[in-house]
Amino acid sequence: MNNLISVSNLSKSFGSENALSNVSLDIKRGEIFALLGPNGAGKTTLISCICGLTTQTAGNIRINNYDTISNFRETRKLIGLVPQELPFDSFESVYNTCQFSRGLFGMTPNDVYIKEVLKSLSLLEKKDLQIFGLSGGMKRRLLIAKALSHEPKILFLDEPTAGVDVALRKDLWELISNLKKKGVTIILTTHYIEEAEQLADRVGIINSGKLVLVKDKADLMQEFNKKSTIITLRKKMQRLSKELKDSNISLIESGNKIKYISANGESNNLQSILNYLSKEKIDYSEINTVNNSLEDIFLELIEKNEH
Ligand SMILES: Nc1ncnc2c1ncn2[C@@H]1O[C@H](COP(=O)(O)OP(=O)(O)OP(=O)(O)O)[C@@H](O)[C@H]1O
Ligand SMILES: [Mg+2]
Repeated sequence: MNNLISVSNLSKSFGSENALSNVSLDIKRGEIFALLGPNGAGKTTLISCICGLTTQTAGNIRINNYDTISNFRETRKLIGLVPQELPFDSFESVYNTCQFSRGLFGMTPNDVYIKEVLKSLSLLEKKDLQIFGLSGGMKRRLLIAKALSHEPKILFLDEPTAGVDVALRKDLWELISNLKKKGVTIILTTHYIEEAEQLADRVGIINSGKLVLVKDKADLMQEFNKKSTIITLRKKMQRLSKELKDSNISLIESGNKIKYISANGESNNLQSILNYLSKEKIDYSEINTVNNSLEDIFLELIEKNEH
């Protein structure tokens, strides 16, 4: 069976508020799945339900064919969770925190493995330090080390790089890719769309508790692949001439630039714009073309979903 996690018709309400409404989602073995969505969309709630930290109002979740409620222990053991909030501030040392967490899942102590994990997170030299002596970024890394301590098959990362500096973010991306190579299935939430663009095999977008889209990242980027071409004029244009009237062509920056959005390699309109400019002897200094990023696609989808 290819699906490691199966979420079926999951709903979760807090009082009268529906944090999740009828969410169904399969996570494939070995993939990196990125869950995107605005603040309050339900990302953390979905993760909490899958990890058994909160009980769903309706629906069910199976991990490796075990139900997360009736077989809580079996399923929880498979999971490493890196929570969104920094929960700890204790006198315990970095090393003991990891070894203790490993023990909680019934695993015998493994000095070599824990040191290897700490090393991969650049925490080895801090192993004897008490947690309150760590910086914010180090605490976040410790959360990851702790989540990995019992050698889980599935890793949930809830905004793993929030508040982490750029260099460290790149290191964490590498660590996540390496875990995937070792066969760990990874589900991450992030507000850095670039992160999803870099790491994910598939992307899910959640908005107001509803899963609005699940797609292969590559397909998503292909399907919504649009280019914006900006032509910088040497002289301002007051209004767009009738000949150029098209929903994909607009005047921007007070008439100093023409913007043209084209889909999937179509370029007829660009030719007509250039022909028109040359006929009217309007000079231009620059033509720039940029591809839509996953961020543009995300914003477009959220906007569509809200209307
Ligand atoms: N324990 C709780 N009690 C009451 N309401 C809750 C609780 N946990 C979450 N909610 C509500 O459920 C909704 C979804 O919250 P959730 O934390 O899942 O969002 P999120 O997508 O993780 O957002 P963020 O990007 O800000 O982390 C929100 O409206 C939130 O207020
Ligand atoms: Mg959250």
